[in-house]
Amino acid sequence: MPHTLIVEDDPDSADMLAELIKSEGFSTATAHTLSEARQQLALREPDLVLLDLVLPDGNGMDLFADRPEAFAGSEVVMITGHASLDTSIQALRLGATDYLVKPINFRQLKHILARVTPHTELQNRIATFEKDVGEVGHFGPLWGRSRAMREIYHQIARVARTSVSVLICGQSGTGKEVVAQAIHELSRRRSRAFLAVNCGAISPQLIESEMFGHEKGSFTGAARQHQGYFERAQGGTLLLDEITEMPLDLQVKLLRVLETRSFQRIGGTESIEIDVRIIAATNRDPYEALAHGKLREDLLYRLNVFRIDVPPLSERREDVELLAQNFLDELNIQEKASKRLVPSAIERLTAYDWPGNVRQLRNAVQRAFIMAEGNDIDEGCLAFDAVSSNAAPAIDAGKVTVRVGTSIAEMERKLIFATLEYCGGRREQAAELLGVSPKTLYNRLREYDRGET
Ligand SMILES: Nc1ncnc2c1ncn2[C@@H]1O[C@H](COP(=O)(O)OP(=O)(O)OP(=O)(O)O)[C@@H](O)[C@H]1O
Ligand SMILES: [Mg+2]
Repeated sequence: MPHTLIVEDDPDSADMLAELIKSEGFSTATAHTLSEARQQLALREPDLVLLDLVLPDGNGMDLFADRPEAFAGSEVVMITGHASLDTSIQALRLGATDYLVKPINFRQLKHILARVTPHTELQNRIATFEKDVGEVGHFGPLWGRSRAMREIYHQIARVARTSVSVLICGQSGTGKEVVAQAIHELSRRRSRAFLAVNCGAISPQLIESEMFGHEKGSFTGAARQHQGYFERAQGGTLLLDEITEMPLDLQVKLLRVLETRSFQRIGGTESIEIDVRIIAATNRDPYEALAHGKLREDLLYRLNVFRIDVPPLSERREDVELLAQNFLDELNIQEKASKRLVPSAIERLTAYDWPGNVRQLRNAVQRAFIMAEGNDIDEGCLAFDAVSSNAAPAIDAGKVTVRVGTSIAEMERKLIFATLEYCGGRREQAAELLGVSPKTLYNRLREYDRGET
């Protein structure tokens, strides 16, 4: 039976909470002061702590300051008055999982209780992931054992057991979506949906209804009720990719959803409560986006509670070989082949700058795999320009050579990657040069990621 510690100075509220929590199958202990809470913590490590911030003998957050490791295995949920939203954000930074605003909404509390599984299970999963880094070279879906990636794994492990919003920043193709997946997989939400939506790929007219859904007849063309992404991600994780492409008025709505954890469908009157972890991603510098009016300050402040920066591949060259080997292994299994990269090819891969990051590397390995006639993949099979780490931007990036006999699909793919490379990985710019919408470019890249073409 999972155990809950309720730290709340008002005896009536504490009793009421205890009743409710017991009825959900938890054992409970109650503390009315900080010192009682310390005693209880020493007696038994709880799976969940409900922690009022304002206590007679101090601030609830002092418990963290005392012994942050005491909470390693517990979910800590802050209870706060409306006025102290800032404090709760600070608490989330310190490691609290969540917060409830007074008066406590019992349904929200129930959502939280439903998520609390005995923590040992999650701890074991994290331990397995961490062991794999040393032994095999990957952390769940993420490959790499560079220092930079290890730091990211550490952050993922820390944030995964909470439900705070996460902001993932990094150039295109660095693996932001995979980081989001890893967070989801290590969280209590992993049996629920993980949905990724690219805010830049949905037309501004449709985005609101895509996010929040609509009621039948709420606008011309709304023939049926439609569930939006928020509703479909219930209990799970929603990745809002390219958050800076979300129209500003919708950013306001998103902020409200994050704060109230509820929303209404377009044309609806019913308020729908949601329990969804929001992860936002961007390949821009968020503060630059702020300065250019692409991102609202209050939203950034809210999302920035936990930020993960994924470095470009050129800053973790030691991972190139491991990543390339992994992509090659996948292909070998898929195609029942046993091709290998010869040392000079690995050298060349490692020396290259990868403006399109891991996505470009994956693509280069796929192409080399096809190009290699025998089992050895040598330098000749690598179809990018050898640019050393300190050379100027890709010398020949302005040109694509295709032979007669090349399929249109392959030509298109070559042109897309060369243009991306030319634009230093900036997709908006590449889409413009290619004369397609960002949505089209995005969809192509996703197809390539999935190895569909
Ligand atoms: N560390 C990694 N290990 C294994 N595969 C990776 C890793 N990083 C990225 N990839 C692969 O590289 C491709 C691009 O990754 P992803 O889509 O996560 O990038 P992104 O940062 O979200 O890019 P964009 O900004 O363009 O959306 C995918 O095929 C993904 O599986
Ligand atoms: Mg992405």
